[in-house]
Amino acid sequence: MFRRVKYKSEAEFAKLKESANVVAVTLAEVAKCIKPGVPLTYLDQVGEQCIRDHHAVPSFKGYEGYPAALCLSVNDVVVHGIPKPGQYLRDGDIISVDCGALLDGYHGDFCYTFEVGEVAPATRQLLQRTKESLMKAIEVAKAGNTIGDIGHCVEQYVSQFHYGVVRELCGHGIGKDMHEKPDIPNYGVKGSGMKIAPGMCICIEPMINLGSHKIVIENDGWTIRTRDGKPSAHFEHQLIITENGTEVISSYKPLAEVIGTEELY
Ligand code: MF3
Ligand code: CO
Repeated sequence: MFRRVKYKSEAEFAKLKESANVVAVTLAEVAKCIKPGVPLTYLDQVGEQCIRDHHAVPSFKGYEGYPAALCLSVNDVVVHGIPKPGQYLRDGDIISVDCGALLDGYHGDFCYTFEVGEVAPATRQLLQRTKESLMKAIEVAKAGNTIGDIGHCVEQYVSQFHYGVVRELCGHGIGKDMHEKPDIPNYGVKGSGMKIAPGMCICIEPMINLGSHKIVIENDGWTIRTRDGKPSAHFEHQLIITENGTEVISSYKPLAEVIGTEELY
């Protein structure tokens, strides 16, 4: 982890776009397989194969000992769910699929939470609103604003629904390392923190709970769950800040064809 922000050149932005494209396509491939009865380990295999087919390697596998290519977080699992044998999707589940790929020295990182079959209305709303909080945060993630503006935006939007904003985990800069400075919390004070500036590549990733913000970590050292057992949503986009504005590089387009929705990016 580098303590200072590493600003990127145009050539580096081009590479980051290639990596982001690999994760976007991979997420779409995994999305095609999401239905009741599917083993989580199968989704992980599909994801890993797709990453490797694109001559990339899974960023997560081996990262601080993480054992899989994807983080698959079902229902009350907030993030870092490890796909384990014997786990199957069920009707009514939600599953966040978090994917990272390293291509030609640069990382892509992207996450979307999917519905499996018929999902409870309150949970569907949680997903919709968490996605909206990300879209709103992207609007303020532009040169001249601050990192605090991003967190403030997420927190302010979801607080009206009395959702819990997970505080222990945050978004991040990304480049040659998957986690670079700055940290990007999903809460904050307007105008606080580092200035957003051209050359930055950042991941914004709201993790929002239907109930309390409190979390617990499982004995496997990875799986993070809500303390109250209520569902949690997680969406992530990767963006670059240029002289000419902000560009979302982790497109939902390949995904939109699979899930049939009109997404913004
Ligand atoms: N997308 C997550 C993040 O930004 C995934 C990290 S999972 C790990 O932190 F296994 F690689 F740690
Ligand atoms: Co991330």
